[in-house]
Amino acid sequence: MKRHLISAADLSRDEALLILDTAEELARVSERSIKKLPTLRGRTVVNLFFEDSTRTRISFEAAAKRLSADVINFSAKGSSVSKGESLKDTALTLEAMGADAVVIRHSASGAPHRLATWVHGSVVNAGDGTHEHPTQALLDAFSMRRRLGALDGRKITIVGDVLHSRVARSNVLLLHTLGAEVTLVAPPTLLPVSVDTWPCAVSYDLDAVLPKSDAVMMLRVQKERMNAAYFPSEREYSRRYGLDRDRFAKMPDDAIVMHPGPMNRGMEIAAEVADSPRSTIVEQVANGVTIRMAVLYLLLGGDTA
Ligand code: CP
Repeated sequence: MKRHLISAADLSRDEALLILDTAEELARVSERSIKKLPTLRGRTVVNLFFEDSTRTRISFEAAAKRLSADVINFSAKGSSVSKGESLKDTALTLEAMGADAVVIRHSASGAPHRLATWVHGSVVNAGDGTHEHPTQALLDAFSMRRRLGALDGRKITIVGDVLHSRVARSNVLLLHTLGAEVTLVAPPTLLPVSVDTWPCAVSYDLDAVLPKSDAVMMLRVQKERMNAAYFPSEREYSRRYGLDRDRFAKMPDDAIVMHPGPMNRGMEIAAEVADSPRSTIVEQVANGVTIRMAVLYLLLGGDTA
């Protein structure tokens, strides 16, 4: 493993498979009544969150604690960031407290990359702006592999607000590395200009793509990042790009439904689809702890390549 995990593109196929296979072994620990391993005893993991998070923040904390690391949780709210302290000074302050790894979520794309030039420990990107969220892509791949088997040749459809989605970009990069065929489905206004350089296909017709999909990943419409009208109305968006019961019926019987969360139930996904046995949404959260254990283990305690 390299020292940092900032982009899904940092991972070779062998490295990605090593993380997934390590997570599979660690999943057995999560099934025990005592879920703790001594692997990272004496190591310190700092969770540096400048943007809100439920799943990622809690699962990194649980992952580090299950590996017996010391954990320092930093939230920008209530910190000296409100007094104007910079990212660099915040990071150096935390490093002075002995961080071996810094897990960072930030609203600015590229913040983890900058951080990696200032600190000596490993940097893990927990979501930067609209850029990347590599551990989300890893837990998604892990969840797919557990349900579908090897991902080579599997047809994965990612639907919705690709423009504002770091999850979509990291998934396209990682799934391509793992041999899957990805199709993005979105209104033209919610696709980035550079999408033709991504290793995936693009469609505007969800109904045409669904019958050929092994997994359908719905993306949250990120209203908080929208400063313009990207679609006529929520009702119109839902009618054309939402996964409701009728569309769900067009998917193959063994195809799965995914969502990284948090969801806008009733907008991009109907509640009955999100809660169906073919939905992996709750599994994805549990798998997030396991994947983050694997990433921390390989960065801080595992073999180095
Ligand atoms: N999927 C995800 O990143 O969720 P959180 O924003 O709750 O961490």
